[in-house]
Amino acid sequence: MALPEKYDGKSSDYRAWRTQRLKSAERSPGSAAQSITLTPELKHEQDPASLHKLCEIVREQGYALYQWSEQPENATTNVEQLHRAISLTQHDRGVVSDSASLSLLKDLSGTARGKYIPYTSQAMGWHTDGYYNDPKKTLRCFALHCIHPAATGGSLSLLDYELLLISLYDEDPDLVLLLSQNHCMKLPANKDDLGHDRPDRYASVFFNHADGSLGSRFTTRSKNISWISPDTRAAAERVNEIIASNSHWQHNIRLTAGQGVITRNILHRREAFSDDKKLPQRQMLRGRYLQTPQYAN
Ligand SMILES: [Fe+2]
Repeated sequence: MALPEKYDGKSSDYRAWRTQRLKSAERSPGSAAQSITLTPELKHEQDPASLHKLCEIVREQGYALYQWSEQPENATTNVEQLHRAISLTQHDRGVVSDSASLSLLKDLSGTARGKYIPYTSQAMGWHTDGYYNDPKKTLRCFALHCIHPAATGGSLSLLDYELLLISLYDEDPDLVLLLSQNHCMKLPANKDDLGHDRPDRYASVFFNHADGSLGSRFTTRSKNISWISPDTRAAAERVNEIIASNSHWQHNIRLTAGQGVITRNILHRREAFSDDKKLPQRQMLRGRYLQTPQYAN
């Protein structure tokens, strides 16, 4: 399906959007000017304005970084409270979860969950979360909150797919045409003893959400995808190269205890990490939602 005019690579609407997006890319959500401080229980009078700003940064730049003013007794409860406050209520836990809406990511190598890369200490390549999901359950947001960082490594890199789209148009508009075809990638069926059971699914790398905004599904784990044609496969390989060459638009963050990110499910990767037996394990709470964050007050 063709992308709407705003994302067509040539219309005046696209040119205006491109100019605006490149301007906002000059700011970094991780910078002091855009950092968001929140109280864990959201009881401070500044918190509503901070939540409003956080949602605006996510919409404009793909993600926002926040930090808590203090460490609460029960981080899970307060992270759930934060997510609810910004209208993240429809979660997609998958089959592995640790609370009503969150998963606790840590190195569980050697266990049943440790078959899945998020539950190991290994590096994870560029992807959007839930790229294999049913189209009716397209993820619009993933959020991470750090309870304990790793002893070494484990940083997160983020890249907004809106900037990737601009790069692809600048490089070769045919790449976008190939990657926005309906069903351009096949995500093979998966069934396992943890309860995953999904049929073959088809998706495109770039598509339009019902609200008119741009969406993306992608992974550099090429063994997880069959491409519709050799040209489409070649275009996907170019995407890998273009992501690597756009390091100026990548944001590298090593979350510390009490820090987190809220995103609109942009591209991201994780560096490998190692724990120190004398220190707490790396622990990250992850939420995945079918909505983008909104603050109504
Ligand atoms: Fe992820």
